[in-house]
Amino acid sequence: MKYSFNKKIIAITGAANGIGRAAAITLAGEGATIIAIDKEKSSLDKLKFKLKKKCISKNINCTDLDSIKSNLKDIKIIDGLVNCAGIVSQGNIMNCSKEEWQHTLNTNLTSVFYITQFFMNNFLKRKKGSIVNVSSVASSIKGVKKRFAYSASKAGIIGLTKSIAVDYAKQGVRCNVICPGTVDTPTWRKRVLSANNPSQAKKDFNSRQIIGRVAKPEEISDLILFLLSDRSSFVTGSVYNIDGGMSL
Ligand SMILES: NC(=O)c1ccc[n+]([C@@H]2O[C@H](COP(=O)([O-])OP(=O)(O)OC[C@H]3O[C@@H](n4cnc5c(N)ncnc54)[C@H](O)[C@@H]3O)[C@@H](O)[C@H]2O)c1
Repeated sequence: MKYSFNKKIIAITGAANGIGRAAAITLAGEGATIIAIDKEKSSLDKLKFKLKKKCISKNINCTDLDSIKSNLKDIKIIDGLVNCAGIVSQGNIMNCSKEEWQHTLNTNLTSVFYITQFFMNNFLKRKKGSIVNVSSVASSIKGVKKRFAYSASKAGIIGLTKSIAVDYAKQGVRCNVICPGTVDTPTWRKRVLSANNPSQAKKDFNSRQIIGRVAKPEEISDLILFLLSDRSSFVTGSVYNIDGGMSL
């Protein structure tokens, strides 16, 4: 069976950069039309320019429920949703402020609730749909140093995913979650460059994966493609580590 995304409409949050952008390009290459959602307008415009008619861009902050409702009300049909928007906050419990905790939870977890709830009626009406949430190895999978609020938010995504999967399996809606290790994206590059010793930081990141390198965003989007497609029709509520062996 081939992937068949012709005439399929896929919404992706965090589509302007990194993993979300790679997913948008991979899926558009397979024939899908992308509803690209992101708060960063300039990168979103570049994606729109690249994908042309295959992309409907929506400049939205996914933590803002009113903005989601007003800006997405014209989207009546989607076949799949990728919740990829997220931020990496650093530090341990002792240096995590209330503001940073709330900002991390809002961006990485509450936004998934808002966007998924918004599109759920569409899936239920059509009795089909596939949701792919992007968590991280730094979650309930593995303790990673100085990722306190981040790991809490990403563990929440795993729980949210299983809950949606079990509630809606009989109504044709599948929901799965992927947990990447380190991926070469703009924010990861910034993290490396801002380290005291960037070349050592890069080596350290590479060696965290048993494979000995970080992932390319396209290696993550291939799994997203599979989970959105009918080829994964028996898969729901599953947690996929895609981490070059980081969790072993
Ligand atoms: N890069 C990694 O090593 C890695 C590893 C594991 C998990 N992840 C997860 O993958 C996802 C994508 O990460 P990435 O590295 O590609 O990041 P990235 O920063 O390159 O891209 C994230 C995108 O999300 C958008 N975004 C952030 N907050 C938003 C909001 N409130 N509303 C709308 N858009 C928002 C940003 O503008 C950006 O375009 C994140 O959820 C991240 O936690 C990344």
